[in-house]
Amino acid sequence: PAGDSPRARIVLVGPPGSGKSTIGRKLARELGVELFDTDAGIEAETGRGIPEIFATDGEPAFRRIEEDVVRRAVLEHDGVVSLGGGSVLSARTREVLRGATVVYLEISVGEGLRRTGSSNARPLLNGTDPAAKYRELMRIRRPLYREVATVRVRTDGRSPGRVVRMILAKL
Ligand code: S3P
Repeated sequence: PAGDSPRARIVLVGPPGSGKSTIGRKLARELGVELFDTDAGIEAETGRGIPEIFATDGEPAFRRIEEDVVRRAVLEHDGVVSLGGGSVLSARTREVLRGATVVYLEISVGEGLRRTGSSNARPLLNGTDPAAKYRELMRIRRPLYREVATVRVRTDGRSPGRVVRMILAKL
């Protein structure tokens, strides 16, 4: 709602495999603040795993929970907040991000797929053709990540330490 402004010092966005959790941890340590990971927040709050929420309740139900957890994290947490890769799909979330420092961790499709590997912790990338799914997801989300970002950092072929230094240099 109008009047609420983001407290989070830095919000990390990007697709699965872009390094949000790893970079988030390092960045928070570097800044001497806490990291809040919204995927972990959803699991803590519901007492359920994300794959289970997708399987039992479906993606729209997951997105509603996510929207709520993300909103509170961005408005109330004054450290680093890393968002689940699909949170930018919500217009309400994109609105909540206005006025925040939002870092978009850019990653190529090839590298993103390599990093997500064959883990089934990511329900959206399971199935017969993860590469096609990832490409399709990026086609839809790339403009949304760009819309919310105030800073963009390319992460391909760069170590987490290097990415963190690049972020700090751009703040
Ligand atoms: C999702 C990404 C996941 C998690 C859920 C949905 C997505 O987070 O929120 O599986 O839609 O891209 P990561 O980006 O941390 O993998």
